[in-house]
Amino acid sequence: MKCSSTDHARFDEAAVAAVVRSWSFITTPIRPSAEILAEYRKHFERSASQPILIFGATPELIDLALEVGCPEVVSMDWNADNFEAMRRIASREWDNVTFQHGNWVVPIEDLNDRFGCVASDAGPIFLSFPEQWQGISAAAYGYLQSGGRWVSRSFDWPGEAQPFEAYFQRHVDDFEAARKTLNREDELTAFKALTVHIRLRSMQNVVDGHGMIDQQEFARRNDQAARILIETYPDPAFREVVDMNLLRLVRPRPDQSDLQSVVPPELACLPLQKMGFRTEVWHFSEAIPNSGFLLAASKP
Ligand SMILES: C[S@@+](CC[C@H](N)C(=O)[O-])C[C@H]1O[C@@H](n2cnc3c(N)ncnc32)[C@H](O)[C@@H]1O
Repeated sequence: MKCSSTDHARFDEAAVAAVVRSWSFITTPIRPSAEILAEYRKHFERSASQPILIFGATPELIDLALEVGCPEVVSMDWNADNFEAMRRIASREWDNVTFQHGNWVVPIEDLNDRFGCVASDAGPIFLSFPEQWQGISAAAYGYLQSGGRWVSRSFDWPGEAQPFEAYFQRHVDDFEAARKTLNREDELTAFKALTVHIRLRSMQNVVDGHGMIDQQEFARRNDQAARILIETYPDPAFREVVDMNLLRLVRPRPDQSDLQSVVPPELACLPLQKMGFRTEVWHFSEAIPNSGFLLAASKP
């Protein structure tokens, strides 16, 4: 389906509005930073004359694909409301972006051999490892032309020694030190960033040997952090940030998250290599050192 601003009738307006609002609370590095986008750009530019497929609808990635001049941009998601919300957040017009309803791990034969690049901003962390990572790797391999590239960001927590609580306190202390010089708007932005960093930290050391997240521990840490922040910062605007970023974001149930896996790069490469991809890994340094990487894989 082609998307345009006249397509509103087919979306659930309330759901779209809720996603648009929730997105305004999220900062980098959950949203991709300039450093990360510059790395995606290098890959997108290599196949800028070819169609590109994005798993998910990250507005920064679709905007980037349009900016480098990809002749066709297709966004695949199983939730059209999310796509519509991302379209409204985007900086560019998406009149020529095509929405493809689909499950990333279920191949769609019509799309085979069509794309110079298949990319996602951390989509695989919503999948189980290794089964569904194998599924998405196989689907991407099929969709790419020979010489095409798979590019996706992911998160990793190598060798972190301190307990979550120590990092939590350090992030709060940093925020407290910084906020003294900030006006109200910047203070609120810094508080959003604080909760985003706590969210990322809460993934640290809660994964098993296969990269699967311990959902209950992940939820417990976010709840514990939320309780302390609500007590410390009773201001209603701060309270809403805690609610959105720690208690609701990708948490369909109180004890569960949509996030499934945080896989270290050496493991993350395996399903791709099994398909025949040649892989390369780039670590980004921003905000939380070594907390994430971009995995690029080329199809021979
Ligand atoms: C919370 S959003 C995060 C934004 C993400 N960075 C993106 O690219 O859209 C995750 C998105 O992935 C979609 N999603 C998760 N698993 C999926 C799957 N197996 N197939 C298709 N879409 C999926 C959800 O519907 C949602 O729009």
